[in-house]
Amino acid sequence: MTVVAIVGAQWGDEGKGRVVDFLAQDAACVIRFQGGDNAGHTVINQFGTFRLHLVPSGIFNPATVNIIGTGAVVNPAALLDEMHELAAAGVDLANLWLSDRAQILMPYHRQLDGLEEMARGGRAIGTTKRGIGPAYADKAARWGVRLGDLKHQGWLRERLEQILPHKNQVLQHYGQPVWSVDELFDLCMTWHEALYGRIVDTVPMIRDLYRAGKFILLEGQLGIMRDIDWGTYPYVTSSNPSASFAAVGAGLPPTALDEIIGVVKAYSTCVGAGPFPVELFDDTGKTIREIGREFGATTGRPRRCGWFDGVAMAHSAWLNGFTHLAITKLDVLDTLPELKICVGYRVGERIIDYMPDTPLLQEAEAVYESWPGWQAPTTNCRSWDELPAAAQAYLRRIQDLAGVPIRWVSVSPERDKIFAV
Ligand code: GDP
Ligand code: IMO
Ligand code: MG
Repeated sequence: MTVVAIVGAQWGDEGKGRVVDFLAQDAACVIRFQGGDNAGHTVINQFGTFRLHLVPSGIFNPATVNIIGTGAVVNPAALLDEMHELAAAGVDLANLWLSDRAQILMPYHRQLDGLEEMARGGRAIGTTKRGIGPAYADKAARWGVRLGDLKHQGWLRERLEQILPHKNQVLQHYGQPVWSVDELFDLCMTWHEALYGRIVDTVPMIRDLYRAGKFILLEGQLGIMRDIDWGTYPYVTSSNPSASFAAVGAGLPPTALDEIIGVVKAYSTCVGAGPFPVELFDDTGKTIREIGREFGATTGRPRRCGWFDGVAMAHSAWLNGFTHLAITKLDVLDTLPELKICVGYRVGERIIDYMPDTPLLQEAEAVYESWPGWQAPTTNCRSWDELPAAAQAYLRRIQDLAGVPIRWVSVSPERDKIFAV
């Protein structure tokens, strides 16, 4: 297998960073294909504990080419902070590259994200306020500036002269500080200098690796339930975390993808607003949050916790075309006497087994199956056969609901505490 996409199968924070860090040890290249610094990908390995926001999770292997792909939105200031932190921890950044076609997330995008959230009042999305929505909106509306533009100063200045009056009008309307062309141009030049040599045309690079049959990983951000097309719109992010976008965002033809691995947490969590039918408001929810340390890696917000959602799993497996699953955080359930799996939604008089649109999902009540807990530690298990029988049965049920085989099981956040099935 040469090209493998690693994508979030649920609401994000499934452990994508953890899985990519593990698999990247053998990869020639890792490409982050969408999202921005709204991501928080936790990696724990011999270098320490990291919450990666923009830098691909293959960065810990100096021989691996790490690319921030065309489908991403890049806040250069946030990226430079992250690079400083990694360098201070002894991580070699020589092999970090940025697509010249990736969008720049400008300081006004962050300002606008905050203002738009305020304007939504009680119906706020609960974004990470990193400017993601406004940056992707500008990309689609063709008001964007791309990383490659930093290398063409005449072009860049013209772009800013065209874009800024429009942005400043909106900022002014909300009583926000505005940007002069000179001020933003100078800031862009500091980024140009700091990122000098890393902003490249990634097409030949990736094409050569692909043609040489190298192992390439495509790293997604968030999960399908926050996909702009297939998630709980409008409570979603502004890009497609789904596997179908991996080819576009990374810069490969769609036929290049050999495997698509869905990263699946053994239960459900969600950060931000929007319908989440499996949410637990009781002590079990609290227990899962505490044992699973379910607090946002980017914003620190407590994550909403719930039982495994098999309806979301089936939706995700179909639309992503998963070839395999990587289950994470099985160990978090070790102490629970009983587990539940949502197998349908009650909507009015009916029980449905598919993901409805948001207004209906808001009304939906989860219908559960009950499964016995295993009440035994799994952290030291390193094979399927070592797992307690009840844990095997629970995972088999997840596999059935997805219709896709489990390839990996993770039982702790550290790099090597994962095994192949
Ligand atoms: P990502 O955004 O998908 O990369 O996931 P996050 O890093 O935001 O959230 C996953 C959290 O679970 C992180 O704190 C990881 O360190 C942790 N984690 C990952 N895999 C496991 C596991 O198998 N067991 C436990 N207990 N924690 C895990
Ligand atoms: P990783 O990659 C979990 C959520 C926000 C909000 C919605 C839109 O670590 O899984 P945005 O800032 O993207 O406009 O917010 O998406 N969200 C995430 N939730 N993990 C993430 O990333 C997230 N990135 C955004 O909470 O509901
Ligand atoms: Mg995360």
